[in-house]
Amino acid sequence: MKGIILAGGKGTRLYPMTKVVSKQLLPIYDKPLIYYPLSILMLAGIKEILIISTPTDIPMYEKLLEDGSRLGISISYAVQPEPKGLAEAFIIGEEFIGDDSVCLILGDNVFFGQYFTDILEKTKKELNGAAIFGYAVKNPKDFGIVEFDKDNNVISIEEKPQKPKSNYAVPGLYFYDNQVIEIAKTIKPSPRGELEITAVNNAYLEKGQLKVSLMGRGMAWLDTGTPTGMMKASQFVENVQSRQGFYISCPEEIAWRRGFITTEQLLELGEELSMTDYGKYLLSLPEEII
Ligand code: DAU
Repeated sequence: MKGIILAGGKGTRLYPMTKVVSKQLLPIYDKPLIYYPLSILMLAGIKEILIISTPTDIPMYEKLLEDGSRLGISISYAVQPEPKGLAEAFIIGEEFIGDDSVCLILGDNVFFGQYFTDILEKTKKELNGAAIFGYAVKNPKDFGIVEFDKDNNVISIEEKPQKPKSNYAVPGLYFYDNQVIEIAKTIKPSPRGELEITAVNNAYLEKGQLKVSLMGRGMAWLDTGTPTGMMKASQFVENVQSRQGFYISCPEEIAWRRGFITTEQLLELGEELSMTDYGKYLLSLPEEII
């Protein structure tokens, strides 16, 4: 399975913060936002990753993550000239996906929770068509929303409905088989002019090939869409990290624990950052006592 991180967009809702810096390069506590979705793909065992962003921002992502080899993975880059919608990722990424299945994660989505790695691996393994998630939120008008019938079967998914039919939002983490490329090519832009991911999900639903799994209360899916959301997400990460001593979404740690890199390589990465707590954390990992 291939992985795509969509990290473009204009970030206008975060202006002036994002006037010259891509939203996904801004920090959530101690690391750039894009480290969080990157970590999720790595936890899913995905080692071939495409980052899609704007023509001006791509060089900065390249500077930050290079070709991924330092993390034992492969990262390539592609440009989305205009934010024409999430589903455009599959058209831009057609060659990269090839004959494979693909996991798309939005560059601004932060997840954290026990057993999440198991959920990711199971979803990947059992994929038959499309697999997405549902997560209870208090502001359903702001998301793609899943509608269920009385037996909990999915009836439809609506993008930012005025009158939400449930409070289950679809987080920005989607698993698809190879049909997604053709589906993305057939959907029409929405009234707001975007190729909506919701249209892709509804196409799978019509084929009877959409699986929706609900994420429980023990999962954190954090909002980074507003300055307050970003601050709260940062506080959440700081809280957990300082209490447990374990970092949330540290790609170097994941690479090491999953055997993508050796202890020697991890220590090299740690040395480069040894002036920071982040670097000291990397250096301490091989010595940890559980
Ligand atoms: O976060 C989950 C939600 O993401 C879903 O529930 C919705 O169904 C889905 O449409 C999407 O809604 P948003 O309004 O949050 O999407 P937004 O336009 O903010 O874009 C999400 C991320 O993708 C953001 O980091 C910018 C990036 N992006 C967005 C568009 C439209 C791109 O890179 N290219 C694009 O064309």
